[in-house]
Amino acid sequence: MNTFTYNYPVTVYFGEGAAKNNLPKELSKVGDTVMFAYGGGSIKKNGIYDELVGILTAAGKKIVEFNGIMSNPTYDKVQEGARLAKENKVDFILAVGGGSVIDCCKIVSAQALIDEDIWTLEYEKHGVPTEFIPMGAVVTAFGTGAEMNNGAVITNTEKMMKSPLRGAFYSFAILDPVYTMTMPMKQVISGAFDSLSHCMETYMGSPREINYSDEINEATQRNIIRNIRATLKDPKDLHARSELVWAAAMAENGMLKLGKITDFQCHMLEHQLGAYTDCNHGQGLAVLHPVLYRHMMPEANHQFARLAVEVWDIDPEGKNEAQLAAAFVKELAAFIREIGLPTTLREMDIPENTDLRAVADSTILTGGCAKKFTADELFAVLSECRG
Ligand code: NZQ
Ligand code: ZN
Repeated sequence: MNTFTYNYPVTVYFGEGAAKNNLPKELSKVGDTVMFAYGGGSIKKNGIYDELVGILTAAGKKIVEFNGIMSNPTYDKVQEGARLAKENKVDFILAVGGGSVIDCCKIVSAQALIDEDIWTLEYEKHGVPTEFIPMGAVVTAFGTGAEMNNGAVITNTEKMMKSPLRGAFYSFAILDPVYTMTMPMKQVISGAFDSLSHCMETYMGSPREINYSDEINEATQRNIIRNIRATLKDPKDLHARSELVWAAAMAENGMLKLGKITDFQCHMLEHQLGAYTDCNHGQGLAVLHPVLYRHMMPEANHQFARLAVEVWDIDPEGKNEAQLAAAFVKELAAFIREIGLPTTLREMDIPENTDLRAVADSTILTGGCAKKFTADELFAVLSECRG
């Protein structure tokens, strides 16, 4: 294991009734003006909006609404939120939604306190914001684990980049699995696959020898696979849903990453595909993962072989490392088909004329990946994914 420091600043309130039971005491610690941030309106249909507005009103808060945060939130939307927060002298941000709302607010909270453009600060001056409007998250769509970390994935439509920006940690995260029960099934599955991908992206980093973090990771992957299947069998299964919500958080709260340098090459590629096509994140990962992994052989065989045995229950009897690695990738691809995720860009309705060369050329190459990819090989991966 590499050396590490572990400090975790997010208080997690998990379980049914978590907002009703805990939000009032959290709100009593913050100023009077609260930005209530949400997406395209699902929370108005399922009653979460009314419940939370009731709690905010009872706490005597002045509510500033920031709504319409889209999936794959844009840099323009961040700027809109920051202006609103500044104009209204917002004391606290309550982000209510999935990864998109939660990420957008992480950067709003920083941009609202500085005059400098935060993209320039982070990408050109290599600085990081240090002051933030405090925030709380109410998760209504699970999968990304965005509520557990301080990275935000923001789409800069002008620069054609979907990239990570460093933002603030939430002071608290409310994870009520019941709030996620109205998610469309397609989003449930793509979100859960995103969680599985986070586990794999962490596992596939270095060091590559088995370690404690990886063993917790294997258990988390097995849990996600089992509970995706249970959820497909019975979408109302609250036990399975609860497990998926917590597994998503575990994958991104830093625990699995302790002592590791992560891989995340698949994510970097998917993010750029998103920059060019605005595609669904989990679906993009589902298409890319098996093809990218085939290209990571033989360099990644050692870890793939372990995943075959420890996560996918493939019998190692009579198989060498390369055969086990190949069996893992085959099994992963079969699982993606089994759970109804797309397997080609065509199935995702990605337009034929998408500039895949530009997607590959603009993808960040990560240091932790077992294979040192080039833009040319990423282009080959994308081309194979076309279908
Ligand atoms: O906008 P509304 O109307 O709320 O609808 C949303 C949206 O259409 C809907 N939804 C959310 N809660 C619901 C619900 N529908 C019914 N009932 C509910 N309870 O779900 C749709 C998707 O929401 P979104 O937040 O876009 O999805 P997700 O959570 O998958 O977030 C995706 C974003 O997170 C980034 C992705 O790149 C993408 O931009 N990621 C963030 C990460 C992080 N910060 O750690 C890590 C990830 O790898 C990922 O990159
Ligand atoms: Zn992801």
